[in-house]
Amino acid sequence: MAKMWAGRTAGETDRIADDFNSSIHFDSRMYREDITGSMAHAAMLGAKGIITQEEAQTLIVGLEGILADLDAGKLAFDMTCEDIHMFVEQVLTERLGDVGKKLHTARSRNDQVALDLRMYLRETASGIRAQLIELLGVIADKAEEHKATIMPGYTHLQRAQPITFGQHLMAYAMMLLRDVDRLDDTVKRMNVSPIGCCALAGTTYDTDRWFEAKQLGFADISRNSLDGVSDRDFCVEFMSFCSILMMHLSRLSEEIILWSSWEFKFIELSDAYTTGSSIMPQKKNSDMAELIRGKTGRVYGDLMALLTTLKGLPLAYNKDMQEDKESVFDAADTVVQCLQVLTPMLATMTVLADNMKLAAQKGFINATDLADYLVKKGMPFRSAYKIAGQLVAKCIAEGKVLESLTLEEYRACSNLIDEDVFAQIDLATCVAKRNSEGGTSPASVEAQIEYVRGFL
Ligand code: ARG
Repeated sequence: MAKMWAGRTAGETDRIADDFNSSIHFDSRMYREDITGSMAHAAMLGAKGIITQEEAQTLIVGLEGILADLDAGKLAFDMTCEDIHMFVEQVLTERLGDVGKKLHTARSRNDQVALDLRMYLRETASGIRAQLIELLGVIADKAEEHKATIMPGYTHLQRAQPITFGQHLMAYAMMLLRDVDRLDDTVKRMNVSPIGCCALAGTTYDTDRWFEAKQLGFADISRNSLDGVSDRDFCVEFMSFCSILMMHLSRLSEEIILWSSWEFKFIELSDAYTTGSSIMPQKKNSDMAELIRGKTGRVYGDLMALLTTLKGLPLAYNKDMQEDKESVFDAADTVVQCLQVLTPMLATMTVLADNMKLAAQKGFINATDLADYLVKKGMPFRSAYKIAGQLVAKCIAEGKVLESLTLEEYRACSNLIDEDVFAQIDLATCVAKRNSEGGTSPASVEAQIEYVRGFL
């Protein structure tokens, strides 16, 4: 069939080259945006007298019909069409005859595709935002439940100081809150309408770009037509958001995997979010968390792919830009899927508080508190640090913990130490005393939860 864009050419394109060139197999998912965008365009053409109001109405009704038929599955995509824009116009013209051919007045696929993609991603972003809010809610609830649950806090993956599990969870809430903020910021620049930039230079028709922008819910219009059709910053920013979010989800997944191991046994995932082994009957693997960690790589790849595609492009539109969609769709789909799995995985996990406590009792994670105790008794910190270190070494040599040393053993190292040392190195005291803002005490965790809930 002759191509809709066959202007100066007469020869047929090669079939393989056609397949190579076409994007309908991945851009058909933007059919809703393409059609609603076209409806706004038809309305604008009618309002400005570029076509008659009657013609505009015919086009709008025709487009509504196509949308309804696609939604209902009564109309199938014609995969021989180059892209979704050509498909919709082809069906419209088949159904309406010559009036259908008027839709593309004062428009180009270059501004059309930029419009569709912005609308599609705007919608996707709002879905992801809702998923993030849900996840934040689950984390805040879990943290509330465990605001006094003691676990070892780590640096270098070595037991460091006692913390609460609530504090650990709320660290992720803070990351995700920044992700929401980043997404909102991205949407601000995404929500700018390119339609009316036409192929590259604007148009000689007396169009009204604001008419279309307002009808389609955009906050602004692009201010330079060359930039309007060739800007893909919104895709790059969106994928940057996705990459940072995935980095956070991956770190959390890594901890979930570690905590589920027999070496830690701090949590147990619900059977719904684990798998067994085909050969080892005892296994319960955290495959889903591993996949979230694994899929982070592909999202970074999506971002890199588009950045690389864009870096050498002269203005304005180049076909290279068709490559934006698969990357951005893959990144979005991956994020949506990961959040769909992670949120219920966290909501249903069992926290093994006794094991956390047991681990916290080993590893001398109250050694800092012992040093601080001596400081409060008047010793300079460096000297106190030294004495606490000697006492830890003694415990290791004798298979003891700081809590099981006698007062005599303590006083042999420093006569500043009294009976009250035992209360001061008790893990619950250590945690409760870390009440500085943002600290690990239950009261501080509660304040963090309230802060986060204030945004939900
Ligand atoms: N399928 C194309 C894309 O995704 C649509 C724009 C094509 N424009 C053009 N002049 N070939 O970028």
